[in-house]
Amino acid sequence: MSGINYSEKIPNNVNLANDRTLQRALEHWQPHFLDWWQHLGPRDFQTADVYLRTATSVDAEGWATYGAVKMPEYRWGIFLADPVADRKIGFGDNMGQPAWQQVPGEFRSTLRRLIVTQGDTEPASVEQQRLLGHTCPSLYDLRNLFQVNVEEGRHLWAMVYLLHAYFGRDGREEAEELLARHSGDADKPRILTTFNEPISDWLSFYCFTYFTDRDGKYQLKSLAESAFDPLSRTCRFMLTEEAHHMFVGETGIGRVVKRTLEVMKELGTEDPAKIRAAGAVDLPLLQKYLNFWCSSSLDLFGSEVSSNSAANFANGLKGRPDESQYEDHVLRAAQFKLETPKGVEDVPMLNALNEVMRASYLKDCEIGLKRWNRAIERAGYSLRLQLPSPHFRRSIGAWVNAPVTPESRIIPREEYDKRLYEWIPSEQDRAFVRSLMQRVSEPGKMAGWIAPPERGINNLPVEYEYVHLA
Ligand SMILES: [Fe+2]
Ligand SMILES: [Fe+2]
Repeated sequence: MSGINYSEKIPNNVNLANDRTLQRALEHWQPHFLDWWQHLGPRDFQTADVYLRTATSVDAEGWATYGAVKMPEYRWGIFLADPVADRKIGFGDNMGQPAWQQVPGEFRSTLRRLIVTQGDTEPASVEQQRLLGHTCPSLYDLRNLFQVNVEEGRHLWAMVYLLHAYFGRDGREEAEELLARHSGDADKPRILTTFNEPISDWLSFYCFTYFTDRDGKYQLKSLAESAFDPLSRTCRFMLTEEAHHMFVGETGIGRVVKRTLEVMKELGTEDPAKIRAAGAVDLPLLQKYLNFWCSSSLDLFGSEVSSNSAANFANGLKGRPDESQYEDHVLRAAQFKLETPKGVEDVPMLNALNEVMRASYLKDCEIGLKRWNRAIERAGYSLRLQLPSPHFRRSIGAWVNAPVTPESRIIPREEYDKRLYEWIPSEQDRAFVRSLMQRVSEPGKMAGWIAPPERGINNLPVEYEYVHLA
């Protein structure tokens, strides 16, 4: 079951050839996808040979094979994790009953919405990043960008498969709409705000893969718990791909920190102006980028109190990430102490699940900060990078527009407005970062604002020509 059939037009491990109608429908969608990729995928690199990994099977041993591929020829396909025999629903009011192999009628539109919302983010991020190739800091980084991009394209395939296979005509229409909405489009924008922000510099790209792809990881983890088994299996395989995206973010920011520390040492200064003059990213500037992308990604989890998330959990559609780590999987009697600007409120746990998810996400976000701060400490500096308060700069939920500092202090609105650009990048900061973005495309060379990676891809040296520009 886990082997992937590459002899078909659409690589898959779901026996697509056995369902002619579905196969035909997806083969009809395929050229629309390729057309979208040509027009809104990475700009100007469609004929380059890129050292990419492709899934060959969904088990641990055969995950990937590496080789030079022109991106439009990447074998996008449909890969589901192997089924778990006799899988039971693991949470909610129907806990213990058999997982669903088909969509129950009463949850059809909600499940479709969940799948469409997840699916919409995948091509959106490719669109947001489509100009980044022009300013890559190295061929190694360029290859990583494209790896992330083709995999987000495959994640779109994953969601489109579910829509086609289980939602009939509505699903096919939604699949077309996923290619019709575009990031930042005035008339047909992507569904979620964060996915309409252009990503025009590599510091933002690393922050996006660190914070926003990690939101993706948590969404996928909660959908991997779903009673709807095909969704669960799809998300479980997507999570193995997602890990690489977070690796790109964490090591990318780590390499920026490393380079900045070298410059600080060389110059014998912590003065941001001098560090910038030397062409590196001063740590307070990096902190502003972390504040911006972390706060923006926190909104993606939704309102602190949500009757939708309560219903989705009770009905078995969407669980908590790593549901098995909890003892109570029904939550009908549990309460949650929710912090609001007016003080702590008791709310039913079922209604506070977005907040529960946000908290475990933030814990996961700490991992990279610990690593980066260790490097700063070893270099002998006292500054520490931090995650902003989850109440800082929120644009939905209990803390919407509350004037809270990154250190979690509520301050007068006027002071907040005056000081905002002490905490997030100002136009000047962004212009400086943009000025650093010069393409470096000689094998093994790095831009001056970032250190080389510790190792190359798939045991190849860092100097390997990861992208051959045709
Ligand atoms: Fe994704
Ligand atoms: Fe991702």
